[in-house]
Amino acid sequence: MIIKPSSRLRGEIVVPGDKSISHRAVMLGALANGKTSITGFLNGADCLSTIDCFAKMGICIDINDTTVTVNGKGMHSLSAPSKTLYTGNSGTTTRLLAGILSAQEFDSVIDGDFSIRKRPMKRIREPLSLMGADISSDFCPLYIKGRKLHGISYTLPVASAQLKSSIILAAMYADSETTIIQPQQSRNHTELMLSHMGANITTSNNTITILPTENLHAQDITVPADISSAAFFMVAASIVPNSQITLLNVGINETRSGILDILLQMGADIKLENERYFGFEKVCDMTISSAPLHACTIEGDIIGRLIDEIPIIAVAAAFASGTTIIKDATELKVKESNRLDAVVCELKRAGVDITATDDGMIINGKNEVRGADFLTYNDHRMAMSMAVLALAAKGESTIENPHVVDISFPNFFEVLSSLDK
Ligand code: S3P
Repeated sequence: MIIKPSSRLRGEIVVPGDKSISHRAVMLGALANGKTSITGFLNGADCLSTIDCFAKMGICIDINDTTVTVNGKGMHSLSAPSKTLYTGNSGTTTRLLAGILSAQEFDSVIDGDFSIRKRPMKRIREPLSLMGADISSDFCPLYIKGRKLHGISYTLPVASAQLKSSIILAAMYADSETTIIQPQQSRNHTELMLSHMGANITTSNNTITILPTENLHAQDITVPADISSAAFFMVAASIVPNSQITLLNVGINETRSGILDILLQMGADIKLENERYFGFEKVCDMTISSAPLHACTIEGDIIGRLIDEIPIIAVAAAFASGTTIIKDATELKVKESNRLDAVVCELKRAGVDITATDDGMIINGKNEVRGADFLTYNDHRMAMSMAVLALAAKGESTIENPHVVDISFPNFFEVLSSLDK
């Protein structure tokens, strides 16, 4: 894919549905009693992997573009899959599913692609084993023997929503209360959706308590546009001169909106309008206009609120005046790719003055950013970040393996070119 510098980006768009919420809507819909109609579903490869896994366990799911109907049959309705449950590139499917499968009355196997096989599963295996689960290994493929589980009190070693959610899902099947203590807040979509569906779950400060749950009530769910996908256009509109982009229906759940706080702190011109709720999730429309950006330091508790946006924030920092410092971000090393190494390597390729640190990076912005032949590490967010950089760089760029955007934003390049006018 060739990307040429853009002289301006203009238009109004709706980016695809939130990936985290789409996964959870299918999983919890499958375990609920009755029909869950999901509107604005993210029809990307990761969420389709989740649908495929539940279909293999006997759940009838209809897909009509971005409307998905899940015919749930209750907490104890899954049937033994005859084949390996293949989760593709999806960490969320792998980890959340492992929590559910640990408590079933059948055995199962989860496996994924090359990247999934390298991602750490010890973080879920440890707490699930304390609950009585039997999981074969710290890496995929995971051979899971269904067991009766009991409640635990567990302090998470990392602020991870996938880890937290895996334990929460297992805890619904346990015979006693489970308490989870988080070091910092991470995205809370599982907690919100479950409490809306009638599960016995409460959150107080950073402690989550789950009681055994026999029934979930099916609810129709409207999925907000994914702020993690919107982030590419928030930065693109900021760094490409003469731009103005309006993004509709963007989810601004406060456990996800760190990107907004940081871009505003960097001087971005972002206006929020029509704040409202899609069910239990807050959304708004936002208009972003080009503005000179300046550096900032990103560290501590906010990291969990923008973990997926760090590659695109690094791109913003390359065009900002001053030195941006990103700390406390070691989790980036175990995402779809090692995003710390990948970002540093690709930004260097564009001539950016960037240095890797143990837990983040230091970016001296405002030097000339050049177009280049960018690698994507089979990582959707790397591909989209480098495409945005290319729009504001000097000279032409290429993006290797652009199809990797299918994971979270299948029509990314079409939307991008519709704005270049
Ligand atoms: C996700 C949680 C985050 C995030 C991922 C989606 C989720 O991962 O990076 O893209 O849906 O729960 P961690 O839980 O590993 O931080």
